[in-house]
Amino acid sequence: MKQRAKWQSPSNIALVKYWGKKGFQIPSNASISFTLSNCHTTTQLDWQRAESTSFEVYLDGKRNESFEPKIETFFKNIIPLFPDLANYSYTIETTNTFPHSSGIASSASGMSALALCICSLLQQLGKIDTDFYETASNLARIGSGSASRSVYGGLVEWGEHEDYEKSSDQFAIPFKGFHPVFNTYQDTILLVHEGQKSVSSSVGHGLLNDHPFGTQRFEVAEKNMSKIKDILSSGDLDKLVELIESEALMLHGLMMTSTPSFILMLPNTLAIIQKIQTFRKQNDCHIAFTLDAGANVHMLYPEKDIDKAQQLIDTELIGLCSNGKYICDKVGNGPIEIEC
Ligand code: DP6
Repeated sequence: MKQRAKWQSPSNIALVKYWGKKGFQIPSNASISFTLSNCHTTTQLDWQRAESTSFEVYLDGKRNESFEPKIETFFKNIIPLFPDLANYSYTIETTNTFPHSSGIASSASGMSALALCICSLLQQLGKIDTDFYETASNLARIGSGSASRSVYGGLVEWGEHEDYEKSSDQFAIPFKGFHPVFNTYQDTILLVHEGQKSVSSSVGHGLLNDHPFGTQRFEVAEKNMSKIKDILSSGDLDKLVELIESEALMLHGLMMTSTPSFILMLPNTLAIIQKIQTFRKQNDCHIAFTLDAGANVHMLYPEKDIDKAQQLIDTELIGLCSNGKYICDKVGNGPIEIEC
């Protein structure tokens, strides 16, 4: 029997942000994201029966020992759920469509791709007794919270919330019934900073535990999840712009008011934000920004605004990007299993 699995899995961008955990990889609030298309990771997992688990990780064809401890910890965390995984040694070969140094987080696409490969192995062993993607999302969550949302296409919700039927803290669910305008939503990622960010997401999440505004944040996020459900169903783009920009700035406001505090935005992040807001006022369009835990700006807009967005990039934004670089992406259909 084949002892190999291969999956391509995309990154995602959150509209309502996951920031803060209660317990082990349980989100303090529910979140919702767009799955992307062009930014993805392809991972091949090979396994062989062995007395004890061992790992070799290759990035772009080269052994990358610095990733191995993270992978080992991930397996240690999922083996209690699926003890059979302890009976193998693993080789993991992975490539990203976006450069590792681009400042785009690869944990969502990387961890979801690996989780899907592991689910293919578990399926072969007859160990998956719930839904395949639900199991993959659960495993991906254990590797990185936002990765739980990358196992489905379109819009994806993660975290228990009364307005989202069957929502769970353990795994993400696809959000169905959204307005067709979101089938072709665009995300242009303006690269302000290429390279590793100064504070990891895990550290940032931890700082929410004793945060002076933590409780209020979780209440606002809960309400924003209710609001965005209506917005995504009705296609009210004015309200969407307002909500996602507020979420992005709140995320960074929480970073700036933690102890210790930290700032991940750079001067050009702010300059881009201001240019987007001014352009929107003057040009009657729905181009909005969001941020993840870094300096890069995600410019989100509907298909009708593609020409205007390109004009804005060419005339105002390109000079603010690191080496003039940006990545064009859009909402995608989710992971793909690759024949191997
Ligand atoms: C700001 O999923 O990277 O992108 O669970 O510690 O791996 P870990 O954190 P991670 O956090 C992502 C935070 C965010 C918001 C979001 O994607 O919802």
